[in-house]
Amino acid sequence: MKELSKINSRVQASSTLAVDARYKQMKADGIPVVGFGAGEPDFDTPDHIKQAGIQAILDNQTRYTPTAGTTPLRKAVSARLKEDLGVEFPWDCIVVSSGAKHCLYAVMYTLLDPGDGVILPAPYWVSYAEQIRMTGGVPVIVDAPESQNFKISPAQLEAAITPRTKALVLNNPSNPTGMIYSREELQGLADVCVRHDLYIISDEIYYTLCYDGKPFTSMAALGEEVRKRCILINGVSKAYAMTGWRCGYAACGDKRVATVMSNCLSHSTGSIGAMNQAAMLEALTGPQDSVEEMRRVFQERRDYLVSRLNQIEGVSCIRPEGAFYVMMNLEKLVGRTLGGRVIRDADDFSMVFLEKGLVAVVSCCGFGAPNFVRWSYAVSMDTIREGLDRLERFLKEG
Ligand SMILES: Cc1ncc(COP(=O)(O)O)c(C=O)c1O
Repeated sequence: MKELSKINSRVQASSTLAVDARYKQMKADGIPVVGFGAGEPDFDTPDHIKQAGIQAILDNQTRYTPTAGTTPLRKAVSARLKEDLGVEFPWDCIVVSSGAKHCLYAVMYTLLDPGDGVILPAPYWVSYAEQIRMTGGVPVIVDAPESQNFKISPAQLEAAITPRTKALVLNNPSNPTGMIYSREELQGLADVCVRHDLYIISDEIYYTLCYDGKPFTSMAALGEEVRKRCILINGVSKAYAMTGWRCGYAACGDKRVATVMSNCLSHSTGSIGAMNQAAMLEALTGPQDSVEEMRRVFQERRDYLVSRLNQIEGVSCIRPEGAFYVMMNLEKLVGRTLGGRVIRDADDFSMVFLEKGLVAVVSCCGFGAPNFVRWSYAVSMDTIREGLDRLERFLKEG
């Protein structure tokens, strides 16, 4: 038999899968494990949004729509971006697709030719690196250590640029770090991108989840020279608890990007479901109270998780400012034996913590940060308490 695609055969299954598979198996076997791997809100989609989806089905909105989404939906995205972020994207520069994840993939193949470089600050959300590879590009990793609050500097960005560099991917607020770039920090990076004529793929899917009153600035709000190079990635999964509806969008500063993306999508996925678009339209145009309510609950959980983690001997974390993740630093545990296993990195820790401590957290080895594990606080306060009690016991027992 002939070989499969060389490019895509190299794509790695998510590095978090081993722990996740073991966690699910233990759960199925009736072992009382608790999990902190969730990448999605634990809330239900608000009723008025669900009703809009149901009504669309009853109204026979069950046919194909334009590939990039219905016009009312694209206009609603444009209006929401203006209201929330103060950025102007004409409705015909908006492309709706199957979740922010698929939009990102479509952006990569719209921008990249084989060998093009894409700068990716680490720690990064694991799908960026694989999507860049899947579309023939080369991820160029720039280290954003905890000592820099997990952020890269303009000088680091500049140093990583070569004539083959096409784009920067920035996730703000970040998964997995929860950190937020301030307006000034963004401006520094944007200036470098403009000077070197780079596209900026700005994934702002967590922008509604900022804490302590920290203001959020969209990359596209930094003036026309920056906006026209931006592709803003966003969606309703996180802000409206709609992960299963698969609705995301790309707002393209350059109309050509929207056109090529939508042409390619017209030959692959076509549009997303018409009824999902109706629900997304309601999310963006209907009452927004649930967004703030969820944000408030997440902030309470973050406060509790961060303060307790920092009281536990051997581990620590910096205070994330947004999203729903905490990076726990386990540097001090490296070289120690826990649960009968020598801890070399986060893969070792997460496996033994699951087997012996009965808690599943996500190893950040696959995110470019091998001394960290990620806790998601998209779980109940009771679960957070229980997980931390178990961590304390696990580390004490050694
Ligand atoms: C940073 C980031 N971008 C995009 C996504 C994908 O979101 P969607 O459900 O819209 O595909 C996720 C989901 O975990 C994410 O963390």
